[in-house]
Amino acid sequence: MELPPGPRSPAVWQTAGWMVRPAAFLRGVHDRFGDPVTIRTYWTEQPMVLFSHPDAVREVFALDPATAPAGQSWEFLRPFAGSHSILLLDGEEHLRERRLLQGPFHGERMRAFAPLVTDLATRELEAWRGRVVTLERMRHLTLEVMLRVVFGARDELELRRLREAIDTTLEGVRSMPRVLSMIVVRRDLGPRSPWGRFRIAVERFDALLLELVARRRAEPGVGDSLLSLLLEQVDDEGNRPTDRHIRDQLVALLVGGHDSSAASLAWAFERLARHPEVQARLAQGEPDYLDAVVKEVLRVRPALTIAPRLLLAPARIAGWTLPAGVQVAACLWLAMRREDIWPDAAAFRPERWLEHPPPERRAWIPFGGGVRRCAGAPFAEMEMREVLRAASGLRITPVRPESERARRSMLVVVPARGGEVRVG
Ligand code: HEM
Repeated sequence: MELPPGPRSPAVWQTAGWMVRPAAFLRGVHDRFGDPVTIRTYWTEQPMVLFSHPDAVREVFALDPATAPAGQSWEFLRPFAGSHSILLLDGEEHLRERRLLQGPFHGERMRAFAPLVTDLATRELEAWRGRVVTLERMRHLTLEVMLRVVFGARDELELRRLREAIDTTLEGVRSMPRVLSMIVVRRDLGPRSPWGRFRIAVERFDALLLELVARRRAEPGVGDSLLSLLLEQVDDEGNRPTDRHIRDQLVALLVGGHDSSAASLAWAFERLARHPEVQARLAQGEPDYLDAVVKEVLRVRPALTIAPRLLLAPARIAGWTLPAGVQVAACLWLAMRREDIWPDAAAFRPERWLEHPPPERRAWIPFGGGVRRCAGAPFAEMEMREVLRAASGLRITPVRPESERARRSMLVVVPARGGEVRVG
């Protein structure tokens, strides 16, 4: 079985392009080889076939999880994510987990959290003056939102202890060289080795989370956080989740939702700084326009570039029969840059969402699709809307006129200079 064409350069070069200049790399391979294209990077052990045509993307999302699991792509996170993690499960177990998570993430319930997000965002933005590296600030803000809204931290002490534990744990997985060194030397070489330090940080974090869950079970706050909603879950057999299970759900939400939201918001500021006309219209407070800005940011700068699946058996996608042992991916980045679907695709133009006919919704896939579509999408969109609404009174200009290019930071794509802007 033949794989679709792709670059012949050594994997080390392709990995460098993939990591350091992902946007140029993806555009380059697409321009040269078309759709689909096969790339080889150290990111995955297997070659990866990228698809971007909406029909092919739909076929990838519809693959049977028994032969095309997604959970294996997250395997390296197992020591942190835990064995009940939605990220690692596939098939029936994965669906059961999704049913449990979906209730709390209902759009209606998300709206109830909006005032708290607005409050936290307003407090953050009040301090913005002069040069601001928005990615750093958004990592801070989205973590505060996570701790308050998802984890339900109630006081400064709970917040501080969780914040510190997360900082030390995530520090271990955020830097790519460190992750690679941990995967290579995944043996515990004592408390000072990277793996040893990571393991100790995870243990500390776990102890804190389990304590938090126990406190919330003792003093439930009715629907005041996602944690209290998660504690009310009952599975198909009428069982309540165990503490360990809740712990794994919280960590999945943290891993799935923290960096992705921070990156998307940093891109929003990077784009707004270069589009004063969009800022001006945003300041008029039209809800539909705000929504259009959020959609357009997620389209032109999706924080996740691919949704990968590992083929355990041959599969037929877009007319290609692909062998077991390769990765296939819906390439979110390329799919939302197709000129045949998004005229003037590279332009940041929220207005396109308000025109008639509106853009084809099925081609808008920043949250992936199918049974693994982002479980936190309603939360992420609500958070972006509230932060951008709170920022709509600021005057934001670029520090340097040229657009920031994209680079990878662990699992997400971020602005290379951190979305630096000047405020005021
Ligand atoms: C703008 C921010 C976000 C973006 C762009 C994003 C995007 C994605 C994408 C592309 C996937 C993978 C889909 C696939 O493999 O098919 C995903 C999965 C997931 N996301 Fe998000 N996400 C965001 C925010 C969030 C938030 C805020 C949360 C939670 C509070 C969250 C929780 C999850 C979870 C739990 C999964 C795994 C779902 C599963 O495996 O069934 N995400 N997200």
